[in-house]
Amino acid sequence: MPKLLTDAEVALYHRAGYHCPIDVLTPAEAAAARAELEAHEARTGGPIRGDLRHKPHLYLPWLNDLVRHPRILDAVEDVLGPNLFCWSTTFFIKEPKDAGFVSWHQDATYWGLSSPDVTTVWLAFTPANLENGCMKFMPGTHTTQAPHTDTFHKDNLLSRGQEVAVEVDESKGVYGVLKPGQASLHHVLLVHGSAPNRTADRRIGLAIRYIPTYVKQATDVPDSATLVRGTDTFNYFEHEPRPIGDRDPAAMEFHAEVVRRQAQILYRGTGKQEFRA
Ligand code: NI
Repeated sequence: MPKLLTDAEVALYHRAGYHCPIDVLTPAEAAAARAELEAHEARTGGPIRGDLRHKPHLYLPWLNDLVRHPRILDAVEDVLGPNLFCWSTTFFIKEPKDAGFVSWHQDATYWGLSSPDVTTVWLAFTPANLENGCMKFMPGTHTTQAPHTDTFHKDNLLSRGQEVAVEVDESKGVYGVLKPGQASLHHVLLVHGSAPNRTADRRIGLAIRYIPTYVKQATDVPDSATLVRGTDTFNYFEHEPRPIGDRDPAAMEFHAEVVRRQAQILYRGTGKQEFRA
């Protein structure tokens, strides 16, 4: 018996590679999350960028709580089972009239993980719709890994500007339209992308990546993760601590080291070592 999704929704996730929407936060809670993020940005001098976009739950306690939200974990448990790590988080923010886009890609391509049992929860802090560049999913494309090429295009929000090197029939795509506080789930091999934001407001989403504890980091780079549900009997990942306060020095130091290692994994083979702004 699934915890949050219906049996039909679980079956559809496995067949199509995605599910949406899931109600996670109330509209008021979503507005509060956006206000927290923007207060953080105001304190730190502007939009969250570069290394700080990645794994912010390691230095912001309110985000560390959010990746453990029971409704999110219930939905993730329905597709990945009871023992769960949060492997990573990344903010995907499109500023008003932003040229930023995300090319068609499969997340699994550069993450180095041993298994495709990986799901992303994309949580909307603002509306995500056709006007502001919500995600578009290609149903059923999650069964095989396709080759990718790196473009490093300046407006591409992905780390390598990677795009899938096979034809994508966009007419079969499905838009992941979300209200603030709603989330989508997508499989790590699902082909997806998104268009620029043509509106006058920001489009803000947090991508939260979950894995069962039996998944390994298959590269030789040491990796870490945050245990969010159940138990870890495998010890493949270093367990990440919860930050004690916003940007506390120990958390910032740990975050910098973790993100340095994550960049090593994502950029291996390119000669680059740091996340782009
Ligand atoms: Ni992606």
